[in-house]
Amino acid sequence: MPTLTIQLHRERAYPVHVGQGLLAQVASLSARAGLSPRRVLLVADSNVPAKHARALAASFTAKGVHVATLTLVASEPHKSLDTLARIWHAASDLRLDRDDCILALTGGCLGDVVGLAASTYRRGIAGVQCPTTLLACVDASVGGKTAINLLPSAGAPLIKNLIGTFHQPALVVSDVACLASLPKALLSDGLAECVKHACLTSNARSPSLWLRTQRLIPLVLRRDAKALATLIASNVAIKASIASPDPRELAPDAAGGRALLNFGHTFGHVLEGLPLRKGQPPLSHGCAVALGMVAASHAGLAMGLCTPRVVEDVMDMLALAGLPTQFEADLAKHFDLAPLLSPPSAGLDYSLALPAALSQRMLATDKKVRGGKLRIIVPTGPKPGTCRVVSNPPEHALHAAWQSVLP
Ligand SMILES: NC(=O)c1ccc[n+]([C@@H]2O[C@H](COP(=O)([O-])OP(=O)(O)OC[C@H]3O[C@@H](n4cnc5c(N)ncnc54)[C@H](O)[C@@H]3O)[C@@H](O)[C@H]2O)c1
Ligand SMILES: [Zn+2]
Repeated sequence: MPTLTIQLHRERAYPVHVGQGLLAQVASLSARAGLSPRRVLLVADSNVPAKHARALAASFTAKGVHVATLTLVASEPHKSLDTLARIWHAASDLRLDRDDCILALTGGCLGDVVGLAASTYRRGIAGVQCPTTLLACVDASVGGKTAINLLPSAGAPLIKNLIGTFHQPALVVSDVACLASLPKALLSDGLAECVKHACLTSNARSPSLWLRTQRLIPLVLRRDAKALATLIASNVAIKASIASPDPRELAPDAAGGRALLNFGHTFGHVLEGLPLRKGQPPLSHGCAVALGMVAASHAGLAMGLCTPRVVEDVMDMLALAGLPTQFEADLAKHFDLAPLLSPPSAGLDYSLALPAALSQRMLATDKKVRGGKLRIIVPTGPKPGTCRVVSNPPEHALHAAWQSVLP
């Protein structure tokens, strides 16, 4: 079973275990990581089969640790102050103290809220992440970013992850058995982050990473346990290698640093945050990031920083992973664009107005904006595998980026 150690810059280290059937061992893995709780709050995702929460709880009760389980809904609208407060209250009702811990058995959404709860309850207690989606295994559960979304006012689009902290988990346990119940679309979602990692590091880390990711994707979509564990372990290592030297995303643009992990996200978050029309399904994080990577690649192409081959290779890899490379539906039918295009004028030319409005929204909401300047991550070079930060990108590049994904 692969075990990685995330060595934090000037801070402690924490282990990440990846394997099959690990939930039953979480209590002993916690002890090995230096935790000695008397009580734990287990925050479980309502869509994760209850047997997993039982196995996890049993590993602690067998050692005489008291476990209380709080089952919550994981969704972006629930990634809120209300959910955070429910976790605080449960922790307080349980009288958790600084030696105790909060466990997250869920994906990235609720996992981020649990991380924020662990970071703020009694000014910070230990959090243990047991990710149950591929995205959370390869990305959200490691790196220490915690968050809730902010709904500024009724009708306005929610601002993703606006409120949060940096609080590293004490331990991460990825049990690939949890992924058996995950809908296939959510496997694809997780693969979006793996494609992102391959776009960032294939050249520097290993030229074969791109090909290895390509080889593993079909196996992962068939839920091959070995392929899942291999992909998760290598992607955790990549994320750690980028995030750990720059834990608070303060590296200068030229160095890239942790900001590089936002490849596809600057554009994707805008799409993800648009208010939906009634009855329309939300755009998942992975699909939004996939579209964001296509957009960012076109921005790179428009600025002459990468070749058409890079754009094609990125799009081919996304398609292999079952991800969209263009928004298929009519955007105006899917999303309520009124708040974006206000005041809406009759006979509005969407093809011109929409890219500009989306860029405006990106500038207004993106957390990487420094000194009022937008910073985007784009691929560079003749083949996929290297990206860089571009500050204040030209308007024509942003226009080309949005045009490439809009119908
Ligand atoms: N902290 C970070 O560094 C970081 C990184 C990437 C993404 N994120 C965040 O992660 C979130 C997306 O996470 P996600 O893709 O894991 O989605 P998610 O947590 O929203 O889960 C998606 C759906 O799958 C269900 N689910 C979870 N595990 C399941 C299982 N094993 N079987 C069946 N259903 C299951 C959930 O209940 C939910 O309905 C976003 O909010 C994003 O901002 C955070
Ligand atoms: Zn992401």
